[in-house]
Amino acid sequence: MSSANVRVPAKINLCLGVGPVREDGYHPLATVYQAVDLHDEVRATLRDDDEITVAVHTELDALSEIAIVPENSDNLAVRAALLLRERTGTLLGVDLAIRKVIPVAGGMAGGSADAAAALVACNEAWGTGLSRAALEQLASQLGSDVPFLLHGGNAVGGGRGETISPVLARGSYNWVFATAHEGLSTAAVYAEFDRLNAGTEVAHPTVPDALLAALRAGDADALGAALSNDLTEAALSLRPELADTLAVGIEAGALGAILSGSGPTALFLASDEQHSLDIAFALTSASDCADVIQSRGPVTGARLI
Ligand code: C5P
Repeated sequence: MSSANVRVPAKINLCLGVGPVREDGYHPLATVYQAVDLHDEVRATLRDDDEITVAVHTELDALSEIAIVPENSDNLAVRAALLLRERTGTLLGVDLAIRKVIPVAGGMAGGSADAAAALVACNEAWGTGLSRAALEQLASQLGSDVPFLLHGGNAVGGGRGETISPVLARGSYNWVFATAHEGLSTAAVYAEFDRLNAGTEVAHPTVPDALLAALRAGDADALGAALSNDLTEAALSLRPELADTLAVGIEAGALGAILSGSGPTALFLASDEQHSLDIAFALTSASDCADVIQSRGPVTGARLI
């Protein structure tokens, strides 16, 4: 029986510039993505009928979290398989098994990562032979972050996030992530952004020069100082207690502290492995987060293993 196993990373946004809402309801973004060493795995196993099924496995102890990952066609991985079938005309079926490590609804694109992985895994298991470029084109129809999760590394994201272009970057960075007990809906955070900015003129977003210079130089101190996220105010308005989590990491000497994407995961940049451990310890003892994870980036995008 033909099967394919794919490992896919989570993403963080080193900067997230958000512009005025577009007519299609999306917001123009100017972001720099980095793929980080926190992976989901998706296994696609060929079926002898045309059914598409999905099962989600997790080692996360929060059972309530897994309950919100749909095990039907609302799952973005299933939508990815359906889209690939439509594009290639294949009538084959597949069982998708997702091993979830990336926090659910955490602002780290866990659902989008599973969609990117499902595209690569089904393309392999079905022998449909689409090129990486063709898969990227399908990815952009599935969600704003999906093309980047195929790509990995560091990249500038434009459009609504789906347009990826290369960025000159050097260095490997030590991150600490503090996850929250309850996820935040991306759509709800963008809606809050619109509510808070109603009646004001929102500028067209750009990627800060200081951030690009820090990445070119591989300078962690400068990168920490240049981290930014335009969704901060909106996410804190929905979850005021996240400000305390950010403060604990800053107090522990993090080089920079921001929310990841639309939150609620908070991310902290450390200068090295020991510093990362110190920050993780401070967060575990002093903040009310669900979990503290040490990680590194950049790493590659969705890959067959
Ligand atoms: O693209 P994706 O499906 O991941 O986006 C989820 C939701 O986040 C969208 O339905 C939209 O409400 C919001 N969003 C946005 N602008 C973006 C990306 C996402 O408003 N650039």
